[in-house]
Amino acid sequence: MLILGIETSCDETAAAVVKDGREILSNVVVSQIDIFAEYGGVIPEVAARSHLEAIMPVIDKALLDASCTWEDIDAIAVTHAPGLLGSLLIGTLTARMLAILHNKPLYAVHHLKSHVYANWISGVKANTFSAFPQFPLLALVVSGGHTQILYMTGHNQFEIIGTTHDDAVGECFDKAAKILGLPYPGGPSIAKAALEGDPDRYKLPHPKVDGLDFSFSGLKTAVLRAVQKEVGVLISYPSHKLKELLTPQQVADFAASFQKTAVDILREKLALAMNSGREVQSVVLAGGVSANKALREALPEAYFPEPSLSGDNGAMVAAACYYEIISGVQPTDPYKLNIYPRVSIEDEK
Ligand code: KG4
Ligand code: ZN
Repeated sequence: MLILGIETSCDETAAAVVKDGREILSNVVVSQIDIFAEYGGVIPEVAARSHLEAIMPVIDKALLDASCTWEDIDAIAVTHAPGLLGSLLIGTLTARMLAILHNKPLYAVHHLKSHVYANWISGVKANTFSAFPQFPLLALVVSGGHTQILYMTGHNQFEIIGTTHDDAVGECFDKAAKILGLPYPGGPSIAKAALEGDPDRYKLPHPKVDGLDFSFSGLKTAVLRAVQKEVGVLISYPSHKLKELLTPQQVADFAASFQKTAVDILREKLALAMNSGREVQSVVLAGGVSANKALREALPEAYFPEPSLSGDNGAMVAAACYYEIISGVQPTDPYKLNIYPRVSIEDEK
């Protein structure tokens, strides 16, 4: 079964053709990172406009790279939740139009489900563990918008057992990077700077949150206060000017110390989830932060997506759709498909 997956929930315009949920025939991702690096963050209206320009060429290239025509495509899958409103609209409106035009079944996929299913795409850990994660499993979703622990008893069965009370961990990487004067997106910048840094130089606190929930806004503030203290300024000092007072070594040491703290927090919560009385056969990581090398090294027993599939892409949307189809999910009405910028994975349908 060939599925065309379309993803436009944030600042990547992406489309891919995937066979039977695991074999990538094409995977085209056009990132808007260069545009937003200048602003230090995503501007929703600009993102939507860029999707509009890129979406059809990206889909055409996905078909071309896969040596496919529309006749070969069995279904179209598109991200309809959660994400930026204007960005989701461009992807879903395009998918609806194409489904009607080419008479294809259309499936609406939740973005976090897609991230999780990046772990079922071929090649993933095939040499180390069994080729596919085994149920029941824990999925730790670590993206720019979400930090959640999901419990899956089977395909397409999701229970949220932990979530952040405030910022997502990716957002915290992005904000810490901004304080340190490192470029957007902050995750890869922090990871790079951390390579030259001492992770034990600055002690940053772990949030006190009960159970399996998270909180990351305190960690961001802790970085800010520690930087202010290190360079000897008052808390009223403009935070965008702090970077001018830091040496490259201090930046690297802050990046390494921050990264270590974030990874430790994630690892501790995951350990708590594994000891929560639930049966757990596998642990999978999902979302942009799962590209982080220090996180991968800290969790050697876990499944991770191929690094190129950690961030937003269309292949994971097609993979998630495949498992929806084999779980009995019916296609959606292309004349009615709606977007849900904030809906959770439990309340999606
Ligand atoms: O999943 P994603 O691509 O988009 C959302 O669904 O949000 O995640 C983006 C997030 C950003 O916050 C980015 O800084 C972070 O993932 N990220 C990383 C790394 N690569 C991307 N964080 C830490 N280390 C990385 N190597
Ligand atoms: Zn994402």
